[in-house]
Amino acid sequence: MTSPVLVAVAWPYASGSRHLGHLAGAYLPSDIFARQQRIIGNEVLMVSGSDVHGTPITVRADEEGVAPQDIVDRYHNEFLSQWDQLGISWDLYTTTGTPNHSHVTQQMFLAQLGSGHIDRRKSEQLFDLEVSRFLPDRYVEGTCPHCGSNEARGDQCDNCGKTYDATELINPKSKMSSSTPVLRETEHFYFRYSDFNESLKSFLNSKEGWRNHVINFAIGWLRDEGLIDRAITRDLDWGIELPVEDLGDGKRIYVWYDAVIGYLSASKEWAEREGDPDRWKHWWYNDEARHVYFIGKDNIPFHALFWPAQLMAVGEQMDGQPLHLPDDIPANQYVTFKGGKASASRGVGMTIEEGLEHFQADALRYALAANFPEQADTEISYDEIVRRVNEELVANWGNLVNRVLSMTHKTCGGYVAEPGEITEEDASLLAFIDRSLEESAELFEAVELRAALRKGMEAAQEANRYLNATEPWKISKTDLARAKTVLYVALSAINGIRVMLSPFLPFSSEKLDDLLGRPNGWVRVPLTVGLPISKPTPLFTKIET
Ligand code: MF3
Ligand code: ZN
Repeated sequence: MTSPVLVAVAWPYASGSRHLGHLAGAYLPSDIFARQQRIIGNEVLMVSGSDVHGTPITVRADEEGVAPQDIVDRYHNEFLSQWDQLGISWDLYTTTGTPNHSHVTQQMFLAQLGSGHIDRRKSEQLFDLEVSRFLPDRYVEGTCPHCGSNEARGDQCDNCGKTYDATELINPKSKMSSSTPVLRETEHFYFRYSDFNESLKSFLNSKEGWRNHVINFAIGWLRDEGLIDRAITRDLDWGIELPVEDLGDGKRIYVWYDAVIGYLSASKEWAEREGDPDRWKHWWYNDEARHVYFIGKDNIPFHALFWPAQLMAVGEQMDGQPLHLPDDIPANQYVTFKGGKASASRGVGMTIEEGLEHFQADALRYALAANFPEQADTEISYDEIVRRVNEELVANWGNLVNRVLSMTHKTCGGYVAEPGEITEEDASLLAFIDRSLEESAELFEAVELRAALRKGMEAAQEANRYLNATEPWKISKTDLARAKTVLYVALSAINGIRVMLSPFLPFSSEKLDDLLGRPNGWVRVPLTVGLPISKPTPLFTKIET
């Protein structure tokens, strides 16, 4: 039974290089999950793109004295090349700068305006008298009205994750002039989030199996204060234009209103590119579909509260059917880097680029996945990556594959030999592998990727133990038939283990696919007797420090 799965991945701001924390937060887990879902036969649509709007981009452009589009082009291209090197298997990686995305955003805006969930209000916003302009979002910093952190930005606090209006900041300071801004009246469109407090409560209460930190944050917010209406336009000249004229010049749609719409617009762009323009409906107008959002924890309010409200507000106005709401939001917490050998600017850790300079893609993927911050923040260092790669990936899995393939090549004349009688010891190894496959499938369903990886590695350990106990390299001298059987069993085990590990290690797995065939289903397929096994080259190289 196959079902449509939307793998929706946070859209990185094209405003600077991303670091390994971002990779471990959203892009890598989503790719691992998508790859597993494809193997089990689901119809995966994995979309994302560069988030090209808003003050993150314009602040950076101002700092460098270049145009926002220059910033966007530079980092979008950098991301594209890194996804490629990392093997991130997007169905579409686009940007929010496309005409399609503007169009879909404006359509949604009009639908919500039509249904009365968007209205126009005059309000006072922060204005910098020295440079004579309004200060949206990241142009102002101050003290968080919720947690008191001193480094809160104008729209969200990094410390507590709460969002608010810049006017709520305590001691606001302009980033343009360092002066204290004044309040000045301006007019904006507001999204009536407060209309959805009750619907969001029942939506969230109906969810089972969400990560505790995600569901608690979202339900806690609704319980403690509830959503209030927020401006979804800004006094900025960079962003999507309003589909209505009546606010005049210099107003654009707020980046967080448009970015989340990317999930829908990218699905449409993908369908268009496939030459099947209505195909996106299979994911968006389908109760059987499953939408899984991969994000970092700072994005939780936007995905667990605001985006569902935006979807609900469209109602049935776009195609006579309601749009599919998120089914799971397995947000990751943060990975922090300590004692980093290669530290990027501002101590945020190693950039993706630096990571790729130091490590093979699969090695990096492995070490990060083994430390995914699924339940709590985790720490990782250069040394920890090296240890994970050398002591686990190379010593356990790489070594197993290398030993068994070399011995099969040597002992069995270069092909998979017909096994003799299967002993209890043999059967029990294979049963262990099959059980691990079942258990790892369940962990994938629950998006517990770190534990799923551990299952695969434990299976490899078990196979290594089996080899050490059966010693085929010794018995080949006295009992060749038994040695061939042992190698058959060990290679059978590998044939199951590599399925479990393939979503994590796409590059090395491809080498095994060439040998053993592509995995088809989350199962250990019986080996074909007579399959040629050439002299192997090691899957991974040990990192010398
Ligand atoms: N650009 C945002 C960030 O980097 C994430 C946007 S996710 C989206 O934090 F889906 F809303 F686009
Ligand atoms: Zn705060």
